[in-house]
Amino acid sequence: MIAKVANIKSEVEAYQFDENQKAETFRLLYLSKKGIITELFEEFKMAPVEEKRTLGGVLNGLKQLAEAKYQEQKEKEAENNVGDLMAHDITLPVYQTNEGALHPLRIVEDRLLEIFYSLGFDLSEGPEIEDDYHNFGALNFAEDHPARDMQDTFFISEHVLRTHTSSVQVREMEKGKLPLRLVMPGRVYRNEAVSSRSNCFFHQIEGLYIDKGVSFADLKQTLYYFVQQFFGEGTKVRFRSSYFPFTEPSAEMDIWAGVETEENRRLTKGTGWLEVLGCGMVHPNVLKSCDIDPSFYTGFAFGMGIDRITMLKYGITDIRDLFVNDVRMLKQFAGI
Ligand code: DAH
Repeated sequence: MIAKVANIKSEVEAYQFDENQKAETFRLLYLSKKGIITELFEEFKMAPVEEKRTLGGVLNGLKQLAEAKYQEQKEKEAENNVGDLMAHDITLPVYQTNEGALHPLRIVEDRLLEIFYSLGFDLSEGPEIEDDYHNFGALNFAEDHPARDMQDTFFISEHVLRTHTSSVQVREMEKGKLPLRLVMPGRVYRNEAVSSRSNCFFHQIEGLYIDKGVSFADLKQTLYYFVQQFFGEGTKVRFRSSYFPFTEPSAEMDIWAGVETEENRRLTKGTGWLEVLGCGMVHPNVLKSCDIDPSFYTGFAFGMGIDRITMLKYGITDIRDLFVNDVRMLKQFAGI
């Protein structure tokens, strides 16, 4: 058997790798489970005891030799592979990764904040779980106002999930520091049937400016500036008189979307005007509830739906698309 091992050793030493005889061919021939060297070890078990001592050493030497030869060739082939790739096309795309993107509501809220910061407004936020007083009472809602109805509001024993961000106005005015110039974004809740146009939670941004001598003209100018910045220079606006318990006078502001396209007509119900927000001069009763003397101070407030203007801006027709977190939708906002 010693002679046989010696033969195979010279065979291994002489083995030439080429296009057809690669490291893997060599491994299969000598080192795999059914390879020649593995079989020699099987034979070794049966060899006479006297032979075993020398044979063991020689056999192990052979195995080491073959393994070293195999390793060396394998490394060479790996290097060549990289070389081959480089020689072909190094501009080939790398593995695809998923790029993160800001949610459209985040993009719009950031933009809104940026515009109002530029006018000297600061940020404030309040709790989503409110009491009846901050959500309704201090805002001049009558005891039996229909908005307090169980059908509109989610109640949690003594508390409510705030139905609007106007509650944050009250929390700020109560602090007793004037003047105030704030924007207050956040999530609000309404107990409504979910559909393409209404969801049981959505987002608003509230504005409040209280100082001596703040007038309706200040309100109009501030909101006009906002529209030009957000919807584009030259966008027409109109103010319609309206009613909110916490403002007097109250108004709603529309922007001109036009009636040129089917899309315009559907959105504006043929009027050309799109409702954007509610606003008004802070009602004296609200100021009084917060210990602010209405004979010295006046203020304006406004509130708008962030979801609504996000949908307008990006042509999203179903509000639920904003909340399902489907990456196919979110991806479209990468890099916007
Ligand atoms: N809170 C009102 C709503 O949810 C929106 C609103 C209207 C806020 C007029 C205001 C305002 O601050 O002055 O429908």
